[in-house]
Amino acid sequence: MIQASRTEAIKRLILALDAPSYESAAAVLARVENQVGVVKIGLELFTACGPPAIEMAKNCGYDVFLDLKLHDIPNTVAGAVRAARTLGVDMLTVHVGGGREMLESAAAAAGGDMQLLGVTLLTSLDAEDLDPVAIVPDPSAVVERRATVAATAGLAGIVCSSREIGAVRNIIGWDSIIVTPGIRPAGGALGDQKRIATPYAAITAGADYLVVGRPIHQAPNPALAAGSIVADIAKALGDR
Ligand code: C5P
Repeated sequence: MIQASRTEAIKRLILALDAPSYESAAAVLARVENQVGVVKIGLELFTACGPPAIEMAKNCGYDVFLDLKLHDIPNTVAGAVRAARTLGVDMLTVHVGGGREMLESAAAAAGGDMQLLGVTLLTSLDAEDLDPVAIVPDPSAVVERRATVAATAGLAGIVCSSREIGAVRNIIGWDSIIVTPGIRPAGGALGDQKRIATPYAAITAGADYLVVGRPIHQAPNPALAAGSIVADIAKALGDR
């Protein structure tokens, strides 16, 4: 099989820039040396420093994924989506658990210039974690039902673990995006993640984008770690 180009593979690698301050985030970005295509700014960094984090990633030439997993009443979420739009964000997450009306309001507020993605079930949760919080203890079933609601509510894509990609593709087709966190290179430390896969497995399963945080920014050489994931993505794209 012909390998996809490195440029194509880099576009599909999203760095989770989970850092406690502007300075520490800037230090991580400097060490990644453009081996990722998208920078994901999540709850920690956005709470610590707000919109300047987005500006920093944009100034370094990256697309920005604002991962706030919005989950509130429809009016409040629509307002937050409109605010994110004014910041020039390229991708934004809402939590599918917020229900159809919330998802529809969010999709209407996103317009066409920002990709709105629905988080189905955190990759840090497995079956045992679900019953105590009153969710059916079957991660795949939960993800599939939530993907169905998200797709029909007008979202651009879904966030799910590698395990559910096949079933989710059957539901949402190939026009919608699948973003997959819980990525660990073979033998990598799991941390708090439970529904995990290697970069190669997730891309061959059909993911469009991979989210990777600690395996890159905790590596002794983040650019090298990202570059090796990019090589796996390129190989997997050629094999699928
Ligand atoms: O460090 P690690 O690679 O585990 O980071 C994964 C990132 O993906 C984190 O920023 C986390 O917030 C995010 N995420 C996730 N599971 C989801 C959605 C987002 O781990 N379902």
